[in-house]
Amino acid sequence: MKEITVGLGERSYPILICETATHEMAERIRQALPGCDHLILISNSTIGRLHASGAIHLLETTGTHIDTIEIPEGETAKNTRVVNYVWDFLIEHNCTRQSALVALGGGVVGDITGFAAACYMRGINFIQLPTTLLSMVDSSVGGKTGVNHPRAKNVIGAFWQPRLVCINLGTLRTLPVEEFRSGFAEVIKHGVIRDSGYFEYLEEKLDAIFSLDTHTLEHVVAGSCQIKAEVVSKDERESGLRAILNYGHTVGHAIEALGDYGSIRHGEGVAVGMIAAAEISHRMNLCDARTVERITKLIERSSLPTRLPGNLTAESVLERMQLDKKVRDGKVRFVLPTGIGEVTIRNDVPPETIADVLHGMGCE
Ligand code: NAD
Ligand code: GLY
Repeated sequence: MKEITVGLGERSYPILICETATHEMAERIRQALPGCDHLILISNSTIGRLHASGAIHLLETTGTHIDTIEIPEGETAKNTRVVNYVWDFLIEHNCTRQSALVALGGGVVGDITGFAAACYMRGINFIQLPTTLLSMVDSSVGGKTGVNHPRAKNVIGAFWQPRLVCINLGTLRTLPVEEFRSGFAEVIKHGVIRDSGYFEYLEEKLDAIFSLDTHTLEHVVAGSCQIKAEVVSKDERESGLRAILNYGHTVGHAIEALGDYGSIRHGEGVAVGMIAAAEISHRMNLCDARTVERITKLIERSSLPTRLPGNLTAESVLERMQLDKKVRDGKVRFVLPTGIGEVTIRNDVPPETIADVLHGMGCE
């Protein structure tokens, strides 16, 4: 078992990475939730069918009473109605501050569960049992929780850290390859923003990663969690450094939103956004052509999209970006690579450069 710590003083917590659920994991869950007398496992019907019994078996060994909730599947479930449904359940089942929520699933289940926990009785404990690559390497770590507003993504939420993140790599074996790919975009992101050696490892081991070689996967998941944990430990509330985790998200969020959060996966939007940001960076003389080429190539080799959906116009993407949380004083903030392993944050990208790059990437 590999272990990484998210260092946040008294709110620090471990990320445990295993090939399969173990007795030791159960013991660590028990230790992470002292005094807990009621666990509420939250998932959706797909994850429930595939992985709930394994998770319940794991949780039962803690000797705690367990209830389960299933929420609707997919990004469109990330709304306040679904969170309200969770709160109704918690009230009907007499949940108290000694109750804890368990998110079993991808980023959608994790973000909703974390937000429900953050607000119920002004904050109860929760833990993350991520089952997608994206949730293992990104969304379950760092305490960003919340839901979408019809007009903007992730704008309703709270910072609320889990008490533990418990990664069972075995759950990836049932994950559809397109979901795995979507998560891999965030893995690439971590290499570009922070660690050229890690990026090189991804370039080298791509086939082993996509064939789910356990040792390679463990290295990749641990590497990404390490990068994310380090960034979050230094800047939990995104007052500075943490913003680098938004590399690829400025354009990515806009195209995800224009697809009504349904037709484009989060990682697919991020993949296109990472290429757009790299190209912008090159046009501003902040990085060389080779950097753009390596990022584009790795995304392409992973069968992630490299161009914008053909039905979007550059103007609609630009307009949508103005609604994002990353806009300050009307200026769109971009995370731009200056090489592999390093980025800079800029809010002075000329709109014509953005439009030009978007046109070049397939927009009308
Ligand atoms: P997701 O949660 O929608 O899961 C993708 C699909 O895979 C779903 O249909 C789900 O039911 C299914 N699934 C999950 N695990 C499975 C398994 N093991 N086997 C088979 N099917 C499985 O998508 P995601 O990519 O995990 O997460 C995307 C969400 O994460 C977005 O809402 C995004 O905004 C959010 N996010 C949050 C953060 C954060 O810091 N909180 C960071 C990145 C992304
Ligand atoms: N995924 C961006 C962050 O956690 O800050």
